[in-house]
Amino acid sequence: MLISGRGSNLQALIDAIVDGRLAASIVVVISNRDDAGGLERARAAGIETLVLSHRAFASRDDYDHALATELQARDVGLVCLAGFMRLVGAQLIDAFPNRILNIHPSLLPAFPGLDAQRQAVEHGVKVSGVTVHLVTAELDGGPIVIQRAVRVMPDDTAASLAARILEEEHRAYPEAVQIVLNGGWRLEGRRFVVAKSPTSASA
Ligand code: GRF
Repeated sequence: MLISGRGSNLQALIDAIVDGRLAASIVVVISNRDDAGGLERARAAGIETLVLSHRAFASRDDYDHALATELQARDVGLVCLAGFMRLVGAQLIDAFPNRILNIHPSLLPAFPGLDAQRQAVEHGVKVSGVTVHLVTAELDGGPIVIQRAVRVMPDDTAASLAARILEEEHRAYPEAVQIVLNGGWRLEGRRFVVAKSPTSASA
């Protein structure tokens, strides 16, 4: 997992694994900041942590290459971004094609980029939510795995909306990771399509 901050989505994945809702293991948590609160959560769960500061690298390519090298060395199958405040480039994306997930606090393609909850409040939308998507070169633009809607209340601030969306994030991310790990999905253009299981097919 790649993080930059408090790591509450990391915690949600840890909890889902412990509860048996997610059949996965987190191999390593990498942060670009040494003060990320999520590092402590990872350590508390016995997960290896690594701080890889982007400042130590001359270019984005060099940094992404270093990330890819660390992840590949540990045989990581799926890379989950959770509050990782760096654009990821070709060096990482090409090393893990369609195997990088990100969580974003809006119903994409509305409100990509920073401060999505504030953007939603200021735009005056009545519904926002959360999106988990595959990462491509386009910022917050990859195929959508899961979306969950959250109502925007008349008195919402960016902070109050963010808090309600976050609760939904913590449910959606483990579900999305499980769907991706289950396999049986394909991309049709930019659509993420899950094959019907034989039991749900009609006779
Ligand atoms: C979340 O709102 C996530 O959607 C966004 O950054 C925030 C990270 O929070 N990409 P946390 O570090 O997982 O608590």
